[in-house]
Amino acid sequence: MAESMKGLKRTHRCGELSAANAGETVTVMGWVQKQRNKGGIIFVDLRDRAGILQVIFEESDCGADNFAKAEKLRSEFVVAVVGKVEKRAGAVNESLATGEIEVRAKELRILSEAETPPFPIEENSKTKEELRLKYRYLDLRRPDLQKNLILRSKIATTIRNFLSREGFLEIETPILNKSTPEGARDYLVPSRVHPGCFYALPQSPQIFKQLLMCSGYDRYFQIAKCFRDEDLRADRQPEFTQVDLEMSFVDVDDVIDATERMVAEVCREAIGLEVALPMKRMTWEEAMNRFGSDKPDTRFGMELKDVSEAVKGCGFGVFTGALDAGGSVRGINVKGQAEMPRKKIDALVEFAKGYGAKGLAYLSVMPDGSYKSSFAKFMTEEELKNLVAAMEGEAGDLLLFAADRQKIVWSVLGALRVELARQLDMIDNNRFDFLWITHFPQFEWSDEEERYVAMHHPFTMPMDEDLEMLETDPGKVRAKAYDIVLNGVELGGGSVRIFQSDVQERMFEALGFTKEKAYAQFGFLLDAFKYGVPPHAGLAIGLDRFVMLLVKAESIREVIAFPKVKDASCLMSEAPGPVDPAQLEELCLSLAEEEE
Ligand code: AMO
Ligand code: AMP
Repeated sequence: MAESMKGLKRTHRCGELSAANAGETVTVMGWVQKQRNKGGIIFVDLRDRAGILQVIFEESDCGADNFAKAEKLRSEFVVAVVGKVEKRAGAVNESLATGEIEVRAKELRILSEAETPPFPIEENSKTKEELRLKYRYLDLRRPDLQKNLILRSKIATTIRNFLSREGFLEIETPILNKSTPEGARDYLVPSRVHPGCFYALPQSPQIFKQLLMCSGYDRYFQIAKCFRDEDLRADRQPEFTQVDLEMSFVDVDDVIDATERMVAEVCREAIGLEVALPMKRMTWEEAMNRFGSDKPDTRFGMELKDVSEAVKGCGFGVFTGALDAGGSVRGINVKGQAEMPRKKIDALVEFAKGYGAKGLAYLSVMPDGSYKSSFAKFMTEEELKNLVAAMEGEAGDLLLFAADRQKIVWSVLGALRVELARQLDMIDNNRFDFLWITHFPQFEWSDEEERYVAMHHPFTMPMDEDLEMLETDPGKVRAKAYDIVLNGVELGGGSVRIFQSDVQERMFEALGFTKEKAYAQFGFLLDAFKYGVPPHAGLAIGLDRFVMLLVKAESIREVIAFPKVKDASCLMSEAPGPVDPAQLEELCLSLAEEEE
């Protein structure tokens, strides 16, 4: 039976007590982690979000009634204890922050009884994630998740303090919107009042923050929920949080400067990490050529090498074929792995195929200087020597090559590089490598749509010197866009925006939008620009990813209170679910019959 806490007031959190409180009478409340009955004495570990505290019950201190209640305690009961803080009589528990003390109970109230939880509430849980997510409210009691969410809250506070000190205004933008231009699929919400019409949930506050610049708010930020219906991965959720900001009368360097100072302050406050400023910068082209990725992990080497020149005219048709078709041949040198077993190499070939490779050519420089290779038989001794030299290969090295269209070669070797570094334990987990990637291409060719699509979004300003190629050579136009990368993860990105109507019109044209379509979608923004628009630029950081990297979690699910799983459902609430036919009727919606 549940008792009331009437007349009691919590004085401390369990984990806040220390030897400095010895002698004080305190009232603590929390969950029973464990009860051990040793006959005349009962030990209870009491837990709250601050930590675990040992409470001792002896009949001589607390009386028969309270002692009888203590005998009944089981894990996850919620209790209130009044007692006296004492230095531990027994051995000090080094693993507890409160390990030097215990509380000798005088009074106990059972506020809530609990059924046995479906899994133990403990740090480093070995419980399957599906079960943890089904009972997320129990999972969230575990100290590691509590630490993550407490740190997340601290990070949000640090960000708010920093930005408000820098003159940014926190302004909310609507959730029920028209479609936003971030390129993912929208989540739609049917309108009851306008049958057949739908709102789109924001993929980002992009258009609204640009409008706020038009309205003169000059520096805006928001810790904004964004919604994107895309395939989920470890660092992607259908709803996630951005630290979104926009500034007027600025250029690239101003946004980068404000952002990196904010990021550095967060790192200092959250985990005591000093980040050297300014952060390193690298152009997109350099990043692709050296790392095969626009979000390179620079904590290890194994950089890509272009060997196209070295294999030109060689006898291996795979290489020359790729070059003849306008592609390239590149390789990575896996130091000291010449004797990697064939089975493991075959697994790498399969991995490469997952990234679109037709194959992966390999060459081991054996310790005695001979070669073991999938293609050596097609090449002369001289050609092989040149190739190995171009790779700076030495005895003991394993050289892996991809030959294909530029884009595929980059993505295959870029992914392989990271995979191998993981497998071979080449990554220093204590490093935090921040990096800005700049000079992105404005456009990306879409094979699917057979047109250029915006690499960032259609409001991104081209580099001044590339503007004239917008019509003549769009593939070469670079954008005033920038991404901030941390340890190989895209943390955030942004751009300088187009603020001249004529440039915006040319941009839409380059993207294959008709004027009508552009107006139908973004007319209110284009109209706003007619009434006086300041030059402006901004960026958004993925808050979930930032917290994930700072706490070294494997997935953003570990830093989101109620995340969704791969198929975008919530295992706890079972959302999404069917709705009442009456609700559908009200919305003038009917479901298509499912095909047999
Ligand atoms: P972008 O689309 O690059 O830019 O998004 C910014 C950052 O948001 C995070 N992010 C995600 N995090 C978790 N789950 C997702 N599904 C997800 N999608 C994106 C990433 C990413 O770097 N409006 C522009 C910003 C601007 O130009 O100002 C935008 O949204 O960390
Ligand atoms: P094949 O002639 O198809 O047997 O290929 C010989 C070797 O080249 C095998 O190791 C293949 O995996 C590899 N290979 C095939 N296509 C490519 C490619 N596009 N890039 C790199 N290696 C390839």
